[in-house]
Amino acid sequence: SPLHTFIRGLPKAELHLHIEGSLEPELMFALAQRNGIALPYTSVEQIRAAYDFSDLQSFLDLYYAGAAVLLNEQDFYDLTMAYIQRAVADNVRHVELFFDPQTHTVRGVAMATVFGGIARALRQARQQYDFSGSMILCFLRHLSEADALATLAEALPLREAYQDLWNGIGLDSAEVGNPPEKFSRVFAQASQLGFRLVAHAGEEGPPAYIHSALADLKIERIDHGVRAEEDPALMAELIHSQMPLTVCPLSNLKLKVVQDMRQHNLARMLRAGVCVTINSDDPAYFGGYMNSNFIASADALDLSRDELIQLAKNSFCASFASAEQKQTWL
Ligand code: HPA
Ligand code: ZN
Repeated sequence: SPLHTFIRGLPKAELHLHIEGSLEPELMFALAQRNGIALPYTSVEQIRAAYDFSDLQSFLDLYYAGAAVLLNEQDFYDLTMAYIQRAVADNVRHVELFFDPQTHTVRGVAMATVFGGIARALRQARQQYDFSGSMILCFLRHLSEADALATLAEALPLREAYQDLWNGIGLDSAEVGNPPEKFSRVFAQASQLGFRLVAHAGEEGPPAYIHSALADLKIERIDHGVRAEEDPALMAELIHSQMPLTVCPLSNLKLKVVQDMRQHNLARMLRAGVCVTINSDDPAYFGGYMNSNFIASADALDLSRDELIQLAKNSFCASFASAEQKQTWL
């Protein structure tokens, strides 16, 4: 349709993408073979069939299991380059990708291996395509504050070598029972060090978690945030501050945060004046990259061309790119 063509042609930025969540079953299979790792699946079809989630945790179990095939620098490079090629095909011009070092260091993979592979792909893409990227190190919130502090300390010696890429800190994994304030001291330290701050909040967790992420962690963007709508005072605050939300429509559908795309609140929030962006989250697991997310949203919610342009503009505005780089996009 003409609207789908319009969406494909729109330049956009992706601000909520877990690189481990872009591991397609084909690459998972190939890396398992290359690294001699046994998978609990005998075919790519079997992997895809297993992606029938009931909630966030049921997804996280398979997401962490799948990431076990990532061992070497080349694996992280291949993973990241595969994502970049999909993103470029969707007219994504910029990504601020999440990575979860704790998922890898716990298996004996060196921090430098994770950074090295992801960074090599992002730097190559900068040369090869009209594409830029940066890296946001996420802490797993189901693990302890001490584990997060140790992970930050382990990564800091790499900061200088990756200062062109690593500029942010985030918070992901199992939300309910692991409120933002659990990581107040970690985020305070990261802020002192000059990192940009984001956190998942209000995906499955209540509006109080969004409030805590803002007040206690002092984040600059909210990942998901869809449950903000339950709290009118919080909604007013988000609109007034123009605090960006990185919404992931297909993720919300697959993890049953919403039962039907026509019930998704992203259009309502956008129309109320919230700075909403559209993102793919874990595209290999949730059935679609950026354009699929835009198209599913536009079709279900009757988004107009002006609203689609607004969503794309929001993604560039809400990025952590320099003012000079934003000028080239907007
Ligand atoms: N929520 C929390 N943790 C995650 C997600 C998500 O959507 N994707 C990958 N880790
Ligand atoms: Zn996410």
